[in-house]
Amino acid sequence: MTVLHRHLACFLALMSICLFAGSPQDGDYNQPYRPQFHFSPRVNWTNDPNGLVYFEGEYHIFFQYNPFGDQWGHMSWGHAVSTDLVHWKELPVAIPESDGVMIFTGSTVVDRTNTSGFCTGGKPCLVAVYTGHTPESASGKPLQTQNLAYSNDRGRTWTKYSGNPVLDLHMSDFRDPKVFWSEQGKHWVMAVSLPDEHKVRFYGSADLKKWDHLGDFGPEGSVAGQWECPELFELPVDGHAAQTRWVLKIGLNPGALQGGSGEQYFIGHFDGTRFVNDNPPSLQLWTDYGKDCYCALTFNGLPKTPLPARSQTQPLVPVPTMIGWMNNWQYAGKLPTSPWRGQMTFPRKLALGTTDEGLRLIQLPSDAIAKLHTSPLTRLIGTEKEVNKRLARRNHGDKMVDLTSTITLGGAKVAGLRLLSGDGSYTLVGHNRERRELFVDRTNSGETGFSKDFPARVSAPLTLSNPGQLQIRILVDRSSIEVFAEHGRLVMTELVFPRQNGRRIAVYSEGGALGGVSLRIWSVASIW
Ligand code: FRU
Repeated sequence: MTVLHRHLACFLALMSICLFAGSPQDGDYNQPYRPQFHFSPRVNWTNDPNGLVYFEGEYHIFFQYNPFGDQWGHMSWGHAVSTDLVHWKELPVAIPESDGVMIFTGSTVVDRTNTSGFCTGGKPCLVAVYTGHTPESASGKPLQTQNLAYSNDRGRTWTKYSGNPVLDLHMSDFRDPKVFWSEQGKHWVMAVSLPDEHKVRFYGSADLKKWDHLGDFGPEGSVAGQWECPELFELPVDGHAAQTRWVLKIGLNPGALQGGSGEQYFIGHFDGTRFVNDNPPSLQLWTDYGKDCYCALTFNGLPKTPLPARSQTQPLVPVPTMIGWMNNWQYAGKLPTSPWRGQMTFPRKLALGTTDEGLRLIQLPSDAIAKLHTSPLTRLIGTEKEVNKRLARRNHGDKMVDLTSTITLGGAKVAGLRLLSGDGSYTLVGHNRERRELFVDRTNSGETGFSKDFPARVSAPLTLSNPGQLQIRILVDRSSIEVFAEHGRLVMTELVFPRQNGRRIAVYSEGGALGGVSLRIWSVASIW
């Protein structure tokens, strides 16, 4: 190597350090509101998770990313990987905006048999299917088309397909392809949104390049806003691998249940070409009854694992796992965080369960969270007063906990927990017996003034399976709470920006005395 070569090598090494956004520096992930066990990019803006895929021992999360600032713009696919679904390593931007075309939301598949012709060396490769968004096309209007990019090095580098776009309807709004391999249809299926028509359009393909229109779903359910980010997946019913239904989940913005953006879902049958809703078209079901879960996506390519044992003869199936953008378009650009803006939900495992109202989506935190539990587990059992006395003595150190409470309602009309409290602010999670509802009240949760839509009390109907008892599990991070009530039957996700000392937990009640309280609290370690 000549001196010149050495200088060049040094210069390139320095450049790669500068360009590489990923390696965390001390303090990078320790700002007061920085999520400690939820993924957020080190710097800059993110919205939807994209292309979630498991491949050769790694979970990949791609995400809508602006590499140049903390507001929406220059949309590209950011990238992070994890081997355990909890610790993420951010990598350089995977698919950048280029030639004035932004890289909007989409999905990634593992092409195991080289159906696309993109895979080299006789090995499977990754193919990303995304919406190309041209703000001002030749027609003078925006143009959205579906496009491909592929990687033969475990997602480290990506090549945009020279034959892009693979689908062009010459429309301004046509986006967010979710692609997966359909065993029933023996072809690739794409679910993609026609946002203003409130339709999800289905296409089939043998090679990911040529797509045939199979049919449309919608309008059904809520059509209050644009339909975005369609997602279709199969789930076992009540834990029986042989008995399944399909869930079609659709983002709605604005006009969702709690205002702004939110997601509805439909349960039905899918034969590889057509989705048929099992419920009346007017029935509205919501994946999350809080304000802050949007464009959630499930992982493609997950390994097969045993279902929770019902019988030894059950086939192995993947545990469908979903991550959403923990945010709402109402105020996403105003969140008081820096130098990043936007974060993801904790991964959730999905199931379908029979309830009194019918079949419903069940969501719980992925079991991977156990990797972050730091011992010892705190168990507190007693009256409200006793438990609160012990909670007051307990030093939580930081704000992050995974907490499960079982509250016997006794004579109380309202029962729940006061979280992230301190310096006069707190967030309430509770159940109102008369109104039969679960609520989260963040009107006094700390920093709330950055948007009029933020300081809200949101609620959702909840009939308790045991009328005298409320069961809730809550993940609390530095700037979010995810509430899973009744073993995952009702979920509410809310961002919160508590004061510096806001980390205390207390049980609370109104209108009478609680019958008793049982709490299990794990401290959750930081992933950074
Ligand atoms: C949803 C969404 C998608 C689009 C992306 C652009 O949040 O509007 O429909 O692809 O964000 O960033």
